[in-house]
Amino acid sequence: MKYSRIIGTGGYLPPTIFTNADWEKRVDTSDAWIVERTGIKSRHIAGPNETASSMATQAAISALEQCNLLAKDIQLIIVATGSPDKIFPATACLVQKNLSVPTCIAFDIQAACSGFIYALSIADQYIKNGAVQNALVIGSELMSRLIDWTDRNTCILFGDGAGAVVLQASNEPGILSTHLYADGKYDDVLYLDNMQLGDHVDVIPSLQKSENFNTPLENMQPFIQMQGQKVFKVAVAKLGELIKDVQKQHQLKPEQIDWLVPHQANIRIIKATADKLGIPMEKVVCTVDTHSNTSSASIPLALDVAVRDGRIQKGQTLFFEAIGGGLTWGSALVRF
Ligand code: ACO
Repeated sequence: MKYSRIIGTGGYLPPTIFTNADWEKRVDTSDAWIVERTGIKSRHIAGPNETASSMATQAAISALEQCNLLAKDIQLIIVATGSPDKIFPATACLVQKNLSVPTCIAFDIQAACSGFIYALSIADQYIKNGAVQNALVIGSELMSRLIDWTDRNTCILFGDGAGAVVLQASNEPGILSTHLYADGKYDDVLYLDNMQLGDHVDVIPSLQKSENFNTPLENMQPFIQMQGQKVFKVAVAKLGELIKDVQKQHQLKPEQIDWLVPHQANIRIIKATADKLGIPMEKVVCTVDTHSNTSSASIPLALDVAVRDGRIQKGQTLFFEAIGGGLTWGSALVRF
């Protein structure tokens, strides 16, 4: 088996829809501002009993049903998430328990909005080297619990949800290539502190403040911090470089791509990326208007929408790309 192929897709969106009008009631913003700058009109918000693992489980069930695979057939589960239920065990282990998958490999990966691409790339290696036959690759995010609901600069951008794919070993080409990148020098443009580490500042003697020592833990912020304009500029530049790398490796021409399935951060970043790829917006799967930015869940969710509405067909060539905190960025060229 030389390749891994996507044989099933699934998605889960919490039933509660939160519109721009709902944000207008909470912060000083307007539907017109949000739509013009981001393309977002509404987002889904998880209920009090929903978690990254519960949403991931629903998305996985829907992906398994689509390809008629059973939980017992899965040997690898990777969940990409920046909003795990617990620091440990991994969300992937909780999904394994929920689905009753027998002993398998299960772990989370954290690459912020690029998480799904990273997870897909890792699962592809496991399958190509023969270690596993079937893998569940999931992106699941509870962004609504990571944002400051009073900060208009960030709160309007994000939503909750989960998307999943089933990847299977195949003799036919599926994942044609993945490209992964990171540059930690941009760690301050988009980040979320781990407040767990700061919670004990007052009780652990080695962390207590002395006159000439200030622990950095005291400066931790409980919510997503973002330099929006910088993220925007670096995103457009890095995705442009990435596209050149992929085009060079595959001698890729715009007409060879049937669908761009981008990370759904912002319609302006998506348009700039489509432009750099040389493809029209009619060939771009856009869900940012109704899903908003669901971080690592956004690509598998968009993919699932376009598979289920019949736009994406077997045999077509897809291009996935994402950029997120880290900064991390990456792409996957996929024969569906
Ligand atoms: N409603 C109304 N006004 C707002 C809002 C809001 N929700 N948010 C900010 N403003 C105001 C600002 O306070 C500022 O006011 P001022 O001129 O009086 O100071 C004004 O709007 C302009 O603010 P900018 O930050 O310059 O607005 P910009 O055009 O850059 O748009 C945005 C902001 C949408 C965040 C943009 O920078 C962006 O999309 N960046 C990319 C960020 C992103 O996608 N992050 C997601 C995570 S990373 C990823 O997934 C790739």
